Amino acid sequence: MRDAGLAALYARIAEYAAHRRAGDDERRHAPDLSYEAQVKRFALDLSREGAPAEQVINELIDIAEPGLAAMTGPRFFGWVIGASNPVGVAADWLTSAWGQNTANHFATPSASAAEAAAAAALLELMDLPRESSVGFVTGATMAGFTCLAAARSEMLRRAGWDLESEGMAGSPPITVILGAEAHSTIFAGLKYLGFGERRLMTVDVDANGAILADAAVAAIHSVSGPVIVIAQAGHINSGSFDPFREIAAACRAKNAWLHIDGAFGLWARATETHRKLGEGIELADSWSVDGHKWLQTPYDSAYAIVKHREAHVRAMQIAASYLPSAGSGVRVPADYVPELSRRARGFATWAMIRLLGQRGIAEMVSQHCALARRMALLLAAAGAEILNDVVLNQVAVHFGSDAETQATIAKVQADGVCFVGGAQWRGRQVMRVSVTNENTTEADVDRSVAAMLAAWMAVRGRATSAG
Ligand SMILES: Cc1ncc(COP(=O)(O)O)c(C=O)c1O
Repeated sequence: MRDAGLAALYARIAEYAAHRRAGDDERRHAPDLSYEAQVKRFALDLSREGAPAEQVINELIDIAEPGLAAMTGPRFFGWVIGASNPVGVAADWLTSAWGQNTANHFATPSASAAEAAAAAALLELMDLPRESSVGFVTGATMAGFTCLAAARSEMLRRAGWDLESEGMAGSPPITVILGAEAHSTIFAGLKYLGFGERRLMTVDVDANGAILADAAVAAIHSVSGPVIVIAQAGHINSGSFDPFREIAAACRAKNAWLHIDGAFGLWARATETHRKLGEGIELADSWSVDGHKWLQTPYDSAYAIVKHREAHVRAMQIAASYLPSAGSGVRVPADYVPELSRRARGFATWAMIRLLGQRGIAEMVSQHCALARRMALLLAAAGAEILNDVVLNQVAVHFGSDAETQATIAKVQADGVCFVGGAQWRGRQVMRVSVTNENTTEADVDRSVAAMLAAWMAVRGRATSAG
């Protein structure tokens, strides 16, 4: 398609997308159609002839629209979801339009150079060792996996074992130590790498889910042989940070590798207000962090950051006669990710950093933390129980009982003024609030709190009349 139809097609998408985003503020935070309904509506009839381009896109919009969640809306507090900033989206469209396969620097200088520049800026923003290498991956799950693959390779190398040649069978056993409340995706990454759950050593945590320093230090000193330790910056329910300094000192004494999962929390390092939480983070060997959460890039965007470039490359590099290898000063994108062909993820990250600048990122993150505190204070004042110490942007709320909390979440979701999710934490049902959307204002928080309290009162009213 190379004619005027192309311009019309792209103009249609631009017009539709602008219209959709303009409606974000007042859109109900609940999809109109269920998954089951949408499976039927999306079903493809292969006996039909192919359709014209614009018709296909119009059909896609018509079918998808009623089943979309308002994830970019200002009162979406589920999981930890960024806003897919419009400039990031525009950069992402260009990424698709340019169609650059970002396997190597040789084929696409711009895509590779954008990653190199964005990588340097990320290290600066989070004040991590500048010699670190950065892989542009799909999410913090893959970032954690990539970093831990580098850790596995390096720990075995230090133990005299060449993992890349010999494989895992017969290798010296690696002890993996992590907090009892590490994120589920860390356990998944370890599973992909051959570390079974029963072999992991979990360390007790405090009431906010942060690793107990003494317990971690004792655990690290109690083992011999290769050790990987995993700490967390930003607990999914509480936002808490682990005691990095103490853990890093013990790791150094034992020659252990320290990885930090900072999917959203690592961005605290970019602020004046919350930087202190992340003291000692720079002492680790690797870090995983998302762009599609707090940097507001569209999906898929995350960074696998490794202090030891050789280990990173050893774990990820794909060798073939037709692929160029890195010359000095050259960064081959595929050397740092578990993929060869992929989209040019650096453009959206580059655009978001250029858009917000260091100050803009710091102010946004700080503002979200202030809004989370406001939410917690308002809910607590109305009688809800806040189960976490709100140190960052996450709030864990309990309404009277587990059943009441569950019913309140369901009612909030059905009412659609805002969206919140639920979780089990420390044996109790919580409503989990994450403030991560750049468009959320104080007014959105206040309106959402009113909706949550109204839902709770309705649930209580139902229970009283039923009783
Ligand atoms: C602490 C933490 N680690 C890892 C992840 C996984 O990130 P992603 O969903 O981007 O793969 C999350 C997601 O919320 C998280 O909160």
